[in-house]
Amino acid sequence: MRAFLVVVTLIVMVLAAPRMAAQKVELSIDASKSGAKIDRNLFGQFAEHLGHGIYDGIWVGSDSTIPNTRGIRNDVVAALKAIHVPNVRWPGGCFADEYHWRDGIGPQRVVRLNPNWGGVIEPNTFGTHEFMDFIDQIGSEAYVSVNLGSGSPHEASDWLEYMTAAQATTLEKERAANGHPAPYKVAWIGLGNESWDCGGNMTPEYYLDRMKVFSRFVRNYNPAQMEKDQMLKIAVGPGGGEQRWTDWTETVMKAYQQHTWSWDINGLSMHSYTVDWNHKLASVGFGETEYAQVLKSTLEMDALIKKHSAIMDKYDPQKKVALVVDEWGGWYAPLPGSNPGFLVQQNSMRDAILAALNINIFARHADRVRGANIAQMINVLQAMILTDHEKMVLTPTYYVYKMYVPFQDSTFVPVTFDAGSYKYGDFTLPRVDALAAKSQDGKLWVEITNVDPNQAAEVELNLTGINAKSASGETLTALKVDSINTFDAPNTVVPKPVSARAQAGKITLKLEPKSVTVISLQQ
Ligand code: AHR
Repeated sequence: MRAFLVVVTLIVMVLAAPRMAAQKVELSIDASKSGAKIDRNLFGQFAEHLGHGIYDGIWVGSDSTIPNTRGIRNDVVAALKAIHVPNVRWPGGCFADEYHWRDGIGPQRVVRLNPNWGGVIEPNTFGTHEFMDFIDQIGSEAYVSVNLGSGSPHEASDWLEYMTAAQATTLEKERAANGHPAPYKVAWIGLGNESWDCGGNMTPEYYLDRMKVFSRFVRNYNPAQMEKDQMLKIAVGPGGGEQRWTDWTETVMKAYQQHTWSWDINGLSMHSYTVDWNHKLASVGFGETEYAQVLKSTLEMDALIKKHSAIMDKYDPQKKVALVVDEWGGWYAPLPGSNPGFLVQQNSMRDAILAALNINIFARHADRVRGANIAQMINVLQAMILTDHEKMVLTPTYYVYKMYVPFQDSTFVPVTFDAGSYKYGDFTLPRVDALAAKSQDGKLWVEITNVDPNQAAEVELNLTGINAKSASGETLTALKVDSINTFDAPNTVVPKPVSARAQAGKITLKLEPKSVTVISLQQ
């Protein structure tokens, strides 16, 4: 009897054990259908004067032993070139609303404190010319946030004249004397930053009045930006989904609907971090609970975009004003031993999945969301790159951005699938996510995220409108949900090649648990 019970128990245990066989997922894509353009600016970056985001991360100075070009690190430039950064938002963040551009030009820089971020010395050695040089070296464009908090419209308009004037004004001559006779291109300007909080704790009405004045007087004089490539003006928008944020969006967009010739905006910013402000989670050494918790929470981005898009649709049905998610990403507890004001964290396989899920959300809203800047580019929050003096390491998030390069300025192609669900404890999430698009050269690209950290996914592509014979690309996965790249082990989370051939007209791919995969289809 005892032996019988043991056998029965064993059978029950085997049946109840999680089935580790790959989950089948069918993706249907009709390549002849298309949606909105997936703007390359969804892949923008954010570089604030914060911790080692600029100093050490980008700027080492021309007399450094670290290989550099005019003070800017060569290793960082090479890495960023490879991910085709479309724009870099600078100099902040909260820093922008206390930044005075004159401190950062000319031979004599003004040394100040950085009260927002650790109270450290800000030497202003990295200023307008150094930023523009950096942008040029990585082949990107400038998204300059002007100081609407502690600065004046006069100061901001002088800055724009300094950067963009081509005629022989006093400011143009000063720029030339400082080494740059040709006008700079300023692709975007931000009219303030989080003006509802660190940018001056303004009411939406007060911000609106101030923003109109900045919009009117902060002009771009670059002749090359008069007809095409006009500078886009981005107003401060919401920082969440609560009433104070919906009121903010209502106020700005209602005014936009009635705006006169004398002011205009092209975008409304939105900030949304994946964070528990009351208890910041660790960026390393976590388990499946925190993996599921963070990814569940990051998916709220979709509802937030829908909420604010609905308000924008009321006042701007033609979608002239873009929603620009110019601060987003995972925000965790500072690494032990680091300056808490420097927002130093590691970047794991969880962050790679988090990045892919958010990019896919942005792309699905590409008709309205035409810009996004992950926070932040180097050494701060969900960074692409970590540096320590001469050492540099590329994070899992960096590799996601690299794999998504073909999606920049591609055309959305609808993809239908039953996502199924991944459950862990109290958390239930879609098991898979997917995005399809046609790049400008006509190639069909598909991204598939397998959120489930335990089970592989067997993906069958049902393709119409294309006679695909094979698929190839890259997949990013790791042993553990908290696997990271370090200076000593930089290749723990790196993409590997994947490929499959069509059989009986179908392409089937087996995707590892917790993976991000990007493939193109060959005919
Ligand atoms: O990215 C760090 C900070 O987060 C930015 O300076 C601010 O805009 C936001 O609150």
